[in-house]
Amino acid sequence: MSHDYILETRGLIKEFKGFTAVDDVNLKVRRGTIHALIGPNGAGKTTVFNLLTKFLTPSRGQLLYNGKDITRDDSATIARMGMVRSFQISAVFPHLTVLENVRVALQRKRNDSFFFWRSEKKLDAMNDRAMELLENVGLEEFCNARAVDLPYGRKRSLEIATTLALDPELLLLDEPTQGMGHEDVSVVAELIKEVAKERTILMVEHNLNVVADLSDTITVLQRGAILTEGDYATVSADPRVREAYMGVEADQPANDATQPQDSDLDSDKVVASEAAL
Ligand SMILES: Nc1ncnc2c1ncn2[C@@H]1O[C@H](COP(=O)(O)OP(=O)(O)OP(=O)(O)O)[C@@H](O)[C@H]1O
Ligand SMILES: [Mg+2]
Repeated sequence: MSHDYILETRGLIKEFKGFTAVDDVNLKVRRGTIHALIGPNGAGKTTVFNLLTKFLTPSRGQLLYNGKDITRDDSATIARMGMVRSFQISAVFPHLTVLENVRVALQRKRNDSFFFWRSEKKLDAMNDRAMELLENVGLEEFCNARAVDLPYGRKRSLEIATTLALDPELLLLDEPTQGMGHEDVSVVAELIKEVAKERTILMVEHNLNVVADLSDTITVLQRGAILTEGDYATVSADPRVREAYMGVEADQPANDATQPQDSDLDSDKVVASEAAL
């Protein structure tokens, strides 16, 4: 496909009983980039995500994937087309091992259905590919551990591995580092960078250090509409962005994991960063 933009929304609107949660959003995600959607609490990020992945139906507007109108397609159809939300299809089975989880995901892709319970032999044939995926996300040494026993950050890595088993062209991540400690944040950020080498990523992320580190393009939402867009330097220097975040400063959760750490941002950006958390 030669379309510059893998995903586009045109005049996207979502109303909830007269309240406009998403207000005329024209989003363009360029192929091969990491694109972040940020904004203060209640800005409409999750609603936009839910519209993109068909958890919600738009009140008005259009969605295009590789130039094709997908406004009326359901979530299974768009997943088959290559647009996958990390936790949408890749539910991790807690009592299966790490390796078994990835094998199941591979089997699911192959059969294109949720009836993946096949003979043990066939699942074994997928071991090589499964191990390769586990290596990609740094989980090879955990292959025989039960998913439930993994540390939190590693669970997210497993979730990403099971998503990669579906070989998505566009990966949608909703707050990939949410609730993580500093070390896990770095691991997952590195993983996203690695994964992005071969695909496009659109993510909602609250940790602005991660956003600054990873994103080629950042779209800032405020009250359902796009406030501004650009690279991190441009967006974080925009006084309107800082103002938008300041307005919600009192609502910030006291979560150390998302505090800016080891930041080399200048002080103005750190102010914006802190306010965003
Ligand atoms: N199902 C719903 N019915 C009514 N209002 C809703 C519904 N879902 C979301 N909203 C409202 O739409 C607005 C946007 O919510 P949304 O969850 O998309 O924001 P967000 O940017 O993801 O916020 P956060 O950073 O807190 O996750 C909020 O005012 C919210 O209360
Ligand atoms: Mg949200």
